[in-house]
Formats: sequence, C-alpha cells, structure tokens
Amino acid sequence: MSKFIASPATTLSGDLKVPGDKSISHRSIMLGSLSDGVTKVSGFLEGEDALSTLKAFQAMGVEIEREGDKVTIHGVGINGLKKPVGPLDLGNSGTSIRLMSGILAAQDFDCELIGDESLSKRPMGRVINPLRDMGAVIDSDEGRPPLKITGGQTLTGIHYDLPVASAQVKSCILLAGLYAQGNTCVTEPAPTRDHTERMLTGLGYEVRVINNQMCLTGGGALTATEIQVPSDISSAAFFMVAAAIAPKSDVTLLGVNINPTRTGVINILQLMGANLTLSNEREIGGELLADIRIQSSELQGINIPEEFVPLAIDEFPAVFIAASCAKGETVLTGARELRVKESDRIQVMADGLTILGIENEVLEDGIKIQGGAFKQPTAMIESHHDHRISMSFAIASLRCDYPIEINGVDNVMTSFPNFVELANSAGMSIIEV
Ligand code: S3P
Repeated sequence: MSKFIASPATTLSGDLKVPGDKSISHRSIMLGSLSDGVTKVSGFLEGEDALSTLKAFQAMGVEIEREGDKVTIHGVGINGLKKPVGPLDLGNSGTSIRLMSGILAAQDFDCELIGDESLSKRPMGRVINPLRDMGAVIDSDEGRPPLKITGGQTLTGIHYDLPVASAQVKSCILLAGLYAQGNTCVTEPAPTRDHTERMLTGLGYEVRVINNQMCLTGGGALTATEIQVPSDISSAAFFMVAAAIAPKSDVTLLGVNINPTRTGVINILQLMGANLTLSNEREIGGELLADIRIQSSELQGINIPEEFVPLAIDEFPAVFIAASCAKGETVLTGARELRVKESDRIQVMADGLTILGIENEVLEDGIKIQGGAFKQPTAMIESHHDHRISMSFAIASLRCDYPIEINGVDNVMTSFPNFVELANSAGMSIIEV
C-alpha cells in the first residue's frame, strides 16, 4: 500500500493538460463496442477504471486495440457480444458495473460482475430494481456486488422516476432500453451528466429529451464514428482549487470538458470568489470544451446551493479543501450521495480535515467547514483507498507548513495516473513511497 508525502509548496503555475474524461472514456468503449463499424477514440483515459471497462468488452469478444490514449474499437453491433469465459472484474469502477449491468441484463448469455473491496460494498439496488421492472433477472449479495445476471430475458421498456439524481442509474436504464420492447423513459429529479444521451445521439441513435425526461425506443442500431475525449473537469478541479489557494498562482487547464451538467465546481468556486475565467470555448463531437485559467484568490465561505450538488458530485473533496482555506464558514447540505462513493466522502474528508486542525461538523447529508490554517498534522491521513480523497489532501500541501502524509493512494491510478508528475511539474512537491 503506497502513500503520498506532500511537502509544503508555495505556488503553482503553467499550462496543464489533465487526462481524458473518465465518464466519456467508459461510454466510448461501451457504445463503440455495440456500434456497427470501427470507432476511433482519442484522448482516452489510461486509468484503471476505464481500462476495466475496456478489458471487460475484450472479454466479451470485442476486438479493441490501444496505443496510449488512442483506442480502436471494432464494433460488433448491438447484438454481437459473446459470453465471457469467467466473471468480469470491474475493479474499483462504479460506472462500469452500473452501466454494464444495463447492457448485460439484455444479453442471451449469463454473466457475473465482480469488483474490488470498495466496489463490493457499494449499493446496486438502485440499478437492480428498475432492471427487474424491465424483466431482468439479477442476483446480488444483498444489493451489493457480485451481480449474477441471467441472460435470455425479454426486456420491456419502462417509465422510471429516478429516486436519486444519478447519471449511472439513468444511463443503465437507457442502455437496457436499447434492447427493450417499446419506449424506455427516465425522469430525473435534477440534471445529471448527460454524456450517454450525447454519445448515443452522436452514434445516430435517437434520444428524445423533454425537460427532465429522456426517452428512447428499443431495437435500433448504433453507427461507429470518431470520438475525441476532452480533459476531465473532475481531474482539473484539483488544480483549480490548488491554484486558487496557493499564493501568486496562475494556471491554465487546457481543453477541459465544460458540459453544463459537469460545471458545478466552476459555479461553486466563482461563488467563493475564485479568480477563474474561461476562454477558447468550442464544441467537439457534441461536447463543450474550454481552457480554464485560475489565479490565486481570496476565497469566502458560502452556503453551497443544493442545485449545484449533482453538477459537482465528484468534486466535493477538492471543494472541501477550498472551504478550509476560505474566510468564514462553508455549509454543504443535500449531498447524502457523497456517503456512497468510493468511500464515505463526508466522513473521510472530515476526519482528514480534523487531523489538519480544520474545524468541521459532519451533517447527515453534508458538512460545515470553518476556514482556518492547516496545522501540523497529528497523524497520517487515511484516504480509505479513495482516489479523490488522496488527491484532495495532496493539494492541501500548498497551504501547509509541514509535510502531509496520505495513506492508501494506489487508487489515484483509477482516474488520474499522472497526477503526481503533473502536480510536481506545476510546482508541488509530492513523492509516492
Ligand atoms: C458517473 C456518475 C456519477 C459520478 C461517477 C461517474 C457517470 O455517479 O459520481 O464518478 O459516469 O455516470 P452517480 O450517478 O452515482 O452520481
């Protein structure tokens, strides 16, 4: 088990390109595999999560070649997947297991989906229940992986009101809907990332979106195309916060996805007073991109508007570091979902902040953080093997007079394999031991 030692660093600068978007990388493999023809992907995230999806589709008979961030997928068509020889191991990746369960529930073969210790504790009832309503047969370990899916079922379209704002659940149902008889519609309680809808449309599959409802009709086909994956705003967020909290910083993050269902972190940092500007806005393959410049800022504590929560769901660990460096109190509510991510991100962040001397109060659905100065850590910070916790505490070193040690950082590889290299190139001082 490796750890980061993040030594004090004072400033951050440079033009930085963070790796490809994780959500779009997963979907490029899944939908490219189900397309007719060859899909060429560039900017693919070479992280373990996206690679778990890639290997799973290879195991189901799809020919996929990868050279760095360039991937060529020889699509097998919507009904061309083959039974894998053993269980499909999806590692740490919630997106892989939840989206793939929608596809696999509709195949004519049985299969088993497994994952690592963290994934094996995560709730799957949210996808199992609607899939069962569609006619799927799925067994689980009391609503957690492994998932045993019995193939050969005929699925029927449903109209499903999402009980939680979750793009993974929405996508799972829409993907099952590709195979279902009739119309499948999902209504969401708040906007969530819409990469599945955008990519399906780009591959020629009609998705009808009216307000907060998205519908499709089963039985169509996908046509291969080129997919350029933009940089991941969730990875860029660490450098946005880092540049905001470090004195005399000036960082530009190049070619970042600014899909409006993902930009909550920009809204939150701007509300806190961050000096953040977008330029060079453009559209590539149905997704919006921009360069994001961020300079040192005097941050203010805020009440985070609840409508930003699903739009920044993965960025809260980094936002909590910003809140720790802000003047006054920051309050987050309406974010119970953070408790069922790769770790309980409310409790695990609160424990780490306490070790750094930051006053905080854990709420059932959020946290209150009192901005202050980081003190000499009283213990090693435990990431609970959560990549985003590890990277968040690493950037806290920009406002720390003492080295911070963060334990269990191996899973940074799932989403941001070159994090340490990029952070150090911009002025941080992190070693992994
Ligand atoms: C994702 C959706 C979000 C997010 C996850 C990726 C996706 O999960 O936290 O990292 O790619 O659809 P939820 O749908 O559970 O909120």
